[in-house]
Amino acid sequence: MALDQFGRTIRYLRISLTDHCNLRCVYCMPEDMTFRPNAELLQDDEILTLMELFARLGFDKYRLTGGEPTVRAHVVDLVRNMKQIPGVRSLSMTTNGVLLKKLAGPLKEAGLERVNVSLDTLDPERFRRVTRWGSLEQVWEGILEAERVGLTPIKINAVVVNGYNDGDLVDLARLTCQYPWQVRFIEMMPFGGATELQLRQVVSTADMLRTLTEHLGPLELIDNGRLDGEARLYRIPGAAGTLGFISSVTMPFCAACTRARLTADGRLRLCLLRDNEVDLLTPLRQGATIEDLRQIILDAIWSKPWGHGLARGEFATNRTMSEIGG
Ligand code: 5AD
Ligand code: SF4
Repeated sequence: MALDQFGRTIRYLRISLTDHCNLRCVYCMPEDMTFRPNAELLQDDEILTLMELFARLGFDKYRLTGGEPTVRAHVVDLVRNMKQIPGVRSLSMTTNGVLLKKLAGPLKEAGLERVNVSLDTLDPERFRRVTRWGSLEQVWEGILEAERVGLTPIKINAVVVNGYNDGDLVDLARLTCQYPWQVRFIEMMPFGGATELQLRQVVSTADMLRTLTEHLGPLELIDNGRLDGEARLYRIPGAAGTLGFISSVTMPFCAACTRARLTADGRLRLCLLRDNEVDLLTPLRQGATIEDLRQIILDAIWSKPWGHGLARGEFATNRTMSEIGG
């Protein structure tokens, strides 16, 4: 078991497969983003070696992220190999959906369980503006294909940005009347890279709930507001799906955090919103033994920070969101 100094058992690893992306969402990265050369990224065998090690340390829940994880070469084979590692109980992916129409079937067949797909608006023009060139139709077809092949339950992630998609909340929420999906509204967080917009155009969960209840009437709180992962859940009365609110800025859930992140360049990142990282790639390439690596990981996890400092104006600046992996 990997424990931190505050008694949290850390068992959930988010693995960024690449910092590259085929979109450029305004809340995530600058338009002229530069990406790391592939040689600086963990290679397939290196990821699998580390994942075996994490699995032996009790990590049982894994999520593949990016950048955009589906743009990594051989992603389907990688998923198949990951799924065969003993102890990997849950393996899912967060994707922008652009390539899902083609990849959903093969990913499901390789052992992926489900996907969270980013979708910030149902308006094609606004979709293009948020993602800088994405096609809503393509992503929509990807989501339907993911549902068809059983990468379910589908979760939809919408980062709410004032001036971009704050007018789309009601339409997105109404998706749950028709589809058994969880539509999650995410408070925008600040990172290096796009900080000015991120700080200026945040919409709080309280404001989102106000808008939604104005248009849809009272929402039913699910499970007394207990967190489902990182989301607090509601339902439009009678709806097939649920609404989730991820309130990292105004209602941090740090005390219940069980996660760590492996960046595409092989750093173990201990908190999404703090710069603390421990390099695993260098020792791995320098021939560290499994026992050495195990100790490096255990020491790193022990030092996981208690929580973020957004309320005090502290945030991480060493990477953009796409370089950390959400
Ligand atoms: N704040 C909150 N969420 C973000 N994402 C990307 N950038 C930000 C940000 N600044 C989310 C996207 C995607 C996931 C990988 O991270 O919605 O679903
Ligand atoms: Fe790409 Fe996802 Fe970042 Fe958008 S949020 S630019 S899809 S990594």
